[in-house]
Amino acid sequence: MSRTIVVTGGATGIGRAVAERFVAGGDEVVITGRRVGVLEKAAADLGVRAVVCDGTDPVAVARLAAELPAQIDVLVNNAGGNTDFARPDAADDLVQLRANWLANLESNLLSAVLTTTALAPKLADGGSVIHLGSIAANLGRSSYGASKAALTTYNLDVATELGPRRITSNVVAPGFTADTEFFQGQLTDTRRESLIQATLTKREGVATDIAETIWFLASPGARHLTAQTIHLNGGALTTR
Ligand SMILES: NC(=O)c1ccc[n+]([C@@H]2O[C@H](COP(=O)([O-])OP(=O)(O)OC[C@H]3O[C@@H](n4cnc5c(N)ncnc54)[C@H](OP(=O)(O)O)[C@@H]3O)[C@@H](O)[C@H]2O)c1
Repeated sequence: MSRTIVVTGGATGIGRAVAERFVAGGDEVVITGRRVGVLEKAAADLGVRAVVCDGTDPVAVARLAAELPAQIDVLVNNAGGNTDFARPDAADDLVQLRANWLANLESNLLSAVLTTTALAPKLADGGSVIHLGSIAANLGRSSYGASKAALTTYNLDVATELGPRRITSNVVAPGFTADTEFFQGQLTDTRRESLIQATLTKREGVATDIAETIWFLASPGARHLTAQTIHLNGGALTTR
């Protein structure tokens, strides 16, 4: 039976691959994003529905929730990224530093908090919530890493609150994943090579690596898998 899947930030990169994976599985997919043209083109390419929504804006998120169907089976909180790429370096300017930190917290943590809270009443019993974390949560990386680390803590709250409805909540934490807009043109060849060499598989991650794991987390085989962080980085970070 066809399910309804919401993928925030689903027009590009990892979110787009996730949307594509669920479409291939026969599900109805809704993608969100802020850039109307990019979003509408992706929706037309993929055969999915698009809703323009800035996940950091409570009014826009409430509107999104109202526009969505009565039942949502899977929510993928994918929208986010390292906002520092597009912001001035704060150095010792505390006002700028505060603004930079808040931007990353809004983009990566609050977008997930607002979207999950707004959509929770519509989530089907036995459904799934998946948040996009990052290897940066374990490596530091300033406000971006801190925002993704906070997301893993928030994930425990979601899993606890929705667990009695048999809804699972997990974080998928990618390492370097190519062919996305994440680096905003600022990834040098040297840095790219060092990220590849840091893996045990000696290759870059690709968006379909992430999409396949998310597909599994939303599958019948993963109904007892909740409150976890799944690291997906070719062994660049190991857990035990
Ligand atoms: N690529 C990597 O190496 C990597 C590694 C670890 C984790 N991640 C995480 O993976 C997720 C997906 O990123 P990606 O790599 O696929 O990069 P991406 O291509 O830049 O995708 C991010 C998407 O999110 C949307 N977005 C950003 N802020 C938003 C907001 N406030 N409201 C709604 N949509 C928003 C963007 O579209 P608009 O700008 O049009 O809104 C874009 O489509 C992010 O959470 C990122 O932090 C990526």
